[in-house]
Amino acid sequence: MKTTTWQSPSNIALVKYWGKKENQIPANPSISFSLNNALTTTTISAEIKENRNAISIEFFFENEKNDAFAIKIISFLEKVASEFTWLKSYHLTINSSNTFPHSSGIASSASAFSALALGLCTLHEEIMEIKLPNFYQTASYWARVGSGSACRSVYGGYNLWGKTSLLAHSSDEYAVNIDDQIHPNFKTFNDTILIIEKGKKAVSSTQGHALLKEHPFAQMRYNIANENTGKLLSILKNGEMNDFIKIVESEALMLHALMMTSPTPFILVKPNTLAVIEKIWDFRNQTHSELLFTLDAGANVHLLNSDKDNEQVQQFVQNELIGYCQNDLYFCNAIGKGPLKI
Ligand code: PMV
Repeated sequence: MKTTTWQSPSNIALVKYWGKKENQIPANPSISFSLNNALTTTTISAEIKENRNAISIEFFFENEKNDAFAIKIISFLEKVASEFTWLKSYHLTINSSNTFPHSSGIASSASAFSALALGLCTLHEEIMEIKLPNFYQTASYWARVGSGSACRSVYGGYNLWGKTSLLAHSSDEYAVNIDDQIHPNFKTFNDTILIIEKGKKAVSSTQGHALLKEHPFAQMRYNIANENTGKLLSILKNGEMNDFIKIVESEALMLHALMMTSPTPFILVKPNTLAVIEKIWDFRNQTHSELLFTLDAGANVHLLNSDKDNEQVQQFVQNELIGYCQNDLYFCNAIGKGPLKI
């Protein structure tokens, strides 16, 4: 019996991945940072078995057997079995838990698939008695197969996924860490996730990506996302906060504008999402604090600010924003250091 445990973070995209080609290849590059508190811990135990022809797993989420998740994981394992040739010879017991509130609308697929991919890479090394030459890059590659954005979660700090001529070692198949390109102004950043609506999203990101295929603005979006990647890379280097705010907020609004204007339109923001955005803009105009927002594919608002403004921003959350959150729920994060083998 071989056992491994990895804890891996979720990440928040600053330039968004929205739209993909075959095999989870992104239609444009994206940039994110990893979070420090939104984490998935996954233990995988592998036990050799008699029947070596099929994948067999048992999956527990927070100590309860969960067959719905098991189906998704089996489909992922079938895709990676060509690389992890031992997979069909072992029975896997997988136990997973999240640090963030269950069904809070915080995306868990990035932390879940990165933890799973890291665990598989560790088991691969142990069972095959080899050393993977680029452990994290390999984990990023396989995490991508599970959920695109998960490939950016196998490292801490800032990460870029997608081939761009602006970064020599970038790739569509895995993410790369760009911490060596970050100005001190952006080294510490806080992300307060305001839970506007808990629960499952009306449209999954898989469906969302698919809708881009027939979207009249798709090509324009990919061009802008490429441009924004270039702009954000220079902003992250030169430390210019006002330019950072412009790009990051525009990326968030464009993501939701694409949803609203797709051939089958859908709306994931809620009235309270928009109310919070208005509040953030008013507060920024009045106080000149450097705070901004971004959005995931959901109604929750990610409020971003650097450390120097954090006390003022946390007061603002308490005084003015908490009332827009479902059950007053919000979740404080900062830039995280990345996955941890436990
Ligand atoms: O990795 P997926 O398929 O869940 O897509 C993630 C899409 C966004 O969160 C909206 C953007 C991103 O780059 O993370």
